[in-house]
Amino acid sequence: MAYPKAVSDTFFASWPDALKQASVPHEEIPISPDDVLALAANTPEFCEKFAMFNHFDLSQDFLDEVTAGLEKFPSGAFPRLDYCSWKESCLLNSPARTLRDVEAIILQPNQRIASALMEPAIHNQGANFYLREWIDMPRWSEFRIFMRDRKIIGISQYYTTEQFPQIQQSLDDIRQALIEFCLFLYKESHLETVIADVFLSNQNEKLQAHLIELNPFLKRADPCLYSWEKSDFDGKFRFIKNERVVAAPMAS
Ligand SMILES: Nc1ncnc2c1ncn2[C@@H]1O[C@H](COP(=O)(O)OP(=O)(O)O)[C@@H](O)[C@H]1O
Ligand SMILES: [Mg+2]
Repeated sequence: MAYPKAVSDTFFASWPDALKQASVPHEEIPISPDDVLALAANTPEFCEKFAMFNHFDLSQDFLDEVTAGLEKFPSGAFPRLDYCSWKESCLLNSPARTLRDVEAIILQPNQRIASALMEPAIHNQGANFYLREWIDMPRWSEFRIFMRDRKIIGISQYYTTEQFPQIQQSLDDIRQALIEFCLFLYKESHLETVIADVFLSNQNEKLQAHLIELNPFLKRADPCLYSWEKSDFDGKFRFIKNERVVAAPMAS
């Protein structure tokens, strides 16, 4: 694996089954070293760095596997790499149902994807591509959980420039769902220290948290409503109310 262990440990392939079950179903599709280059070459900065002047097509094998994978998700899929998604692409607001839809996303220039593919490209290695079941995740329902040495040191609403009435209206239920998820993460995580992103959904009249992705606990990660500089992780749940950051206790 070309990535530092702290990074590759957060990839789906390293997750214990319990974490996979608490997440979204997906199909894993290996990307060959040639397809790594073909994908990365959609981003001009990558081509400049590698002095690549030719266009490469993705292999037919890869495209066939994507087509077969899509059949497993009739309501559509969300494409991503093991490292990150194509989220900066505006086309990501809707599910990919056909190979064309997937290509429209993954063939766009994307700096994050190009940097993510730098490591495998340098080492002439492959990577992993995923089709994840498409699930509508309302923006209010996404949260970031910070766990250090298996202690939850903070939770924050994920989109920090917005104020969500839903959080204020359902604060107790949201806190309960997050507390349950934190207990689960504490017990089942293969990593002592990690940043977990979750979304909430209604299951049998009750809110439940599901894992979106794990991120390495590094200062380059977005601290959301916390601050790496101030190191103000207080074990609480931070959200925005009346345009101010509010901290709700996590233990009742
Ligand atoms: N399976 C999915 N279906 C629909 N939207 C998704 C899905 N997974 C993630 N998203 C949305 O896309 C965003 C980015 O996805 P994520 O897996 O966290 O990748 P990244 O590493 O790029 O942040 C998430 O914050 C969420 O809003
Ligand atoms: Mg994310």
